[in-house]
Amino acid sequence: MRLISTEYLNPGNILGKTIYNGSKHVLLQEGIALNERMIARLKELGIPFVYIEDSLTEGIEAKSTISEQTRAESIATIQKAFMEIGEQESLINSSFVIEKAAKKLGALIRNIMSEIKSNDNLLTILSDMYIHDSYIFIHSFHVTLYSLAIGMQLNLSQKQLEILGMGSILHDVGKTKIPLDILLKPGRLTELEYEEIKKHAEHGFHILKKAGTVPLLVAHCAFQHHERLNGSGYPRGLIGSEIHYYGKIIAVADVFDAVTSNRVYRKAMLPHEGLEILYSGSGSLFDQKIVEAFRKSVAIYPIGLTVVLNDGRIGVVSRQNVGVSDRPVVRIIEENNKIVTEVYEVDLLKKMDVLIVDCDKTLLSK
Ligand SMILES: [Fe+2]
Repeated sequence: MRLISTEYLNPGNILGKTIYNGSKHVLLQEGIALNERMIARLKELGIPFVYIEDSLTEGIEAKSTISEQTRAESIATIQKAFMEIGEQESLINSSFVIEKAAKKLGALIRNIMSEIKSNDNLLTILSDMYIHDSYIFIHSFHVTLYSLAIGMQLNLSQKQLEILGMGSILHDVGKTKIPLDILLKPGRLTELEYEEIKKHAEHGFHILKKAGTVPLLVAHCAFQHHERLNGSGYPRGLIGSEIHYYGKIIAVADVFDAVTSNRVYRKAMLPHEGLEILYSGSGSLFDQKIVEAFRKSVAIYPIGLTVVLNDGRIGVVSRQNVGVSDRPVVRIIEENNKIVTEVYEVDLLKKMDVLIVDCDKTLLSK
């Protein structure tokens, strides 16, 4: 299968991966031949890429690190907790809800950790295969996955990972206290509205600080995830070592997921473009070691992505090399401007002179 931009889908293309609507419901089942109506619906929903099957990429399997079941359960649990917190009028009552939910969230985090650990591949999140009415639950789930993958790469202990996981899953919990018309506003925010949104870090801190069963560090994850190394972040403009390590990890995970997710006001970036954003802030906004750990643990060129090599050949990523996310195995499908008669693979880890130079989205049309 390969990844193709929704814009270039043609009737008759065979869908390679099921697309879910909400956390469990199937919108389009894999194996189905897409018709014009379905393609129009995918565009309408703003899905940027989908997987399709074709003969050149037969046998290339794009698997998500996390099972459908864990994904669905996680998002449902986060949704329930956030909605209950949102209904509480006082921060104290919100803290009680967190205390009640903490056990369930802890079990969820341990479950996610064991799935990441038992997967011997790089972390792959096929985020665009899911449509959800509210971005915040999916985002919280993804940030947790990325943070835990970074934490594991940095050899944090089980206990540390559990706290980091809890801090990640609840990092944006303060958003439940932001008026919905501001939170869900599709257009540009006014300065005042932006100031209001920024308060979510502090709201989250106050809610979590009062929840007795939750470590104080979890509250600091919510408080600090928008702080930046050079002091340009908020709410306090902390600098360098004033920011807790977990806050720095969540910052990286948060920004990456934000730019690689499809939002109303802009199209999702591909993972390697998201990584560029992190690199451009590495050392100034983000901790360099954390960005490096992120690069090592997450699939930067996802399986199924069409790439151009420095010698002009075009291929589709067919496998990952663990720990070296920028040097995957590529199945060559085109050379000298012609489709090859027989496809073959190049392992970029063995051919160090061969590089990926482009994965222009227009290539996804072929
Ligand atoms: Fe946030």
